[in-house]
Amino acid sequence: MNERIGIGKAHGKIILSGEHSVVYFEPAIALPFKELTLTVEITPSEQMTIESAYHRGLLSDAPQELANLQLVIKETLANLQQNQETFHLKIDSLIPFERGMGSSAAVANAIVLAIFDYFNKEVDEQTLFNLVQSAEMIAHGNASGLDGKITISKQPIYFIKNQTPTLLDINLNGYLVVADTGEKGKTAEAVSSLKRRKEESPFEIDQLIKRLGMITKQIKIVLKEGTIRELGHLLNESQQHLEQLGVSNDSLDHLIEIANNHGALGAKLTGGGKGGCMFAVADTQDKVAHLEKALLDAGATQTWVLQL
Ligand code: PMV
Repeated sequence: MNERIGIGKAHGKIILSGEHSVVYFEPAIALPFKELTLTVEITPSEQMTIESAYHRGLLSDAPQELANLQLVIKETLANLQQNQETFHLKIDSLIPFERGMGSSAAVANAIVLAIFDYFNKEVDEQTLFNLVQSAEMIAHGNASGLDGKITISKQPIYFIKNQTPTLLDINLNGYLVVADTGEKGKTAEAVSSLKRRKEESPFEIDQLIKRLGMITKQIKIVLKEGTIRELGHLLNESQQHLEQLGVSNDSLDHLIEIANNHGALGAKLTGGGKGGCMFAVADTQDKVAHLEKALLDAGATQTWVLQL
């Protein structure tokens, strides 16, 4: 007899431009990181159990870090009117946790897809997004929805909050060298500290947010008809503004400086900041190798390469 099974898949992401300003309705550009796969598998069980890097055992005993998953499971079962159902949920993920690479949204997407699959039901795009957003609001505080969309998109997206994203074609040849500072990103903290600063100094902060939005619009054009050097300049400018907004930190600044001193055409943080990951832009494979070595020598705990 075939065992009943539900499968859901999602992947990691890199925000190229527009983190934080996207919360205030400026555009952002994000790329799927398809090599960083995440799969959820659901099989029958008499109790609700979970197997993940964070926890193995009863779902009700899961640590606070998994509150978002508990919520998305509960809401998805409610949506399917299957509140009493129990199962075993296994998460296999190559996405590093809390590093600004989309782990929380990817896991929420894959869970909803796996539960619907388990009940042989189709989920429409809007229902999927709403369920994922309810979990993201716990993980992030005030989530723009960008991560929810990009962690299941096959193509890069141009995203404005509350609007349908546009799919982007990239006509540039180049690479992103992504490096992990080894420190957890603090997205919720960075989002709320920016909100406070915006209340204290509205004019100054609004100017910076608008400028980040302008840069993202310019990057959209550059991706279509510009050069990799132009992209690098815009990313450097973006990083300066993110620093002024207070969402970078010493370890990110350090790796960004190392990248710029080792042939990067530009470098910036990616995701919520205050830790997590940065990336550098390179135009040749030799430069990629050189940058990876320099970043690892300077303390990065891991690097990845994403071809544009
Ligand atoms: O840290 P991440 O990868 O989840 O990205 C957060 C991006 C923000 O713009 C800071 C917040 C958001 O909800 O868009």
